[in-house]
Amino acid sequence: MNGKRVTNIELLEKKRSGEKITVITAYDYPTARLADAAGVDVILVGDSLGMVVLGYENTLPVTMEDMLSHTAAAARGARRAMVVGDMPFMSYQASCAQAVENAGCLVQKAGAHAVKVEGGRAVAESIRHIVDAGIPVMGHLGLTPQSVLKFGGFKVQGRSSEAARHIIEDAKLLEEAGAFAIVLELIPKSLAEEITKSVSVPIIGIGAGPYCDGQVQVIHDILGLYGERIPKHAKKYLSLSENIEEAIKNYVSDVRSGEFPGPEHSF
Ligand code: KIV
Repeated sequence: MNGKRVTNIELLEKKRSGEKITVITAYDYPTARLADAAGVDVILVGDSLGMVVLGYENTLPVTMEDMLSHTAAAARGARRAMVVGDMPFMSYQASCAQAVENAGCLVQKAGAHAVKVEGGRAVAESIRHIVDAGIPVMGHLGLTPQSVLKFGGFKVQGRSSEAARHIIEDAKLLEEAGAFAIVLELIPKSLAEEITKSVSVPIIGIGAGPYCDGQVQVIHDILGLYGERIPKHAKKYLSLSENIEEAIKNYVSDVRSGEFPGPEHSF
């Protein structure tokens, strides 16, 4: 680590040299600090915030206000990693002007270094406008959770040859529109491999197999902090919910028994 901020140019160089890109979500100051200290390249303040932090059933209720406040907190904790702020549902779909304005807020008010937008051809024009305004954009294809109602659930996308061709075309359109990287979520690994080879920008997979240029995971999944079950594509490196529950039980029992506070905690 050289202390310099990771940029879109550096991510492109990593794709060219074959060095894998590491991305993880974070939604607050302490977690972003830890992810940054661990050497992650990109911190994504994803709108998965809605599910893993705010307790919603999906990401649709997440607002610009939510994203601004959590992106700002995470950005304060990231000294080296690039911070990407996710554009929530209905913050960019209405018009290019709305997309530019809200992307600008994530950069200007919350300190994001880039924004992420879900969708293919339908948002390519908005991406072009945001990039023209000087803001790097990360695209997102495959299972785009803001379209969960249209998809009828969180399902693997691109299984038929027609659906696969559609995603490949979308990836090329996002590249042409100026996206500096593209997230591919929940698609077959062979399709992700083909896309990774056919576009020049870095492809970051989540549930898209090992052939992408990098990987992104939701931090609550890899730390074991969200529910009992984790998605098939995630690897659980810790069982944090169990550890936290145990620690809180110990605190409750210490207070009840008079064990805490002890003389060393009193003035
Ligand atoms: O919101 C999010 O965390 C995301 C990632 C899962 C890619 O979009």
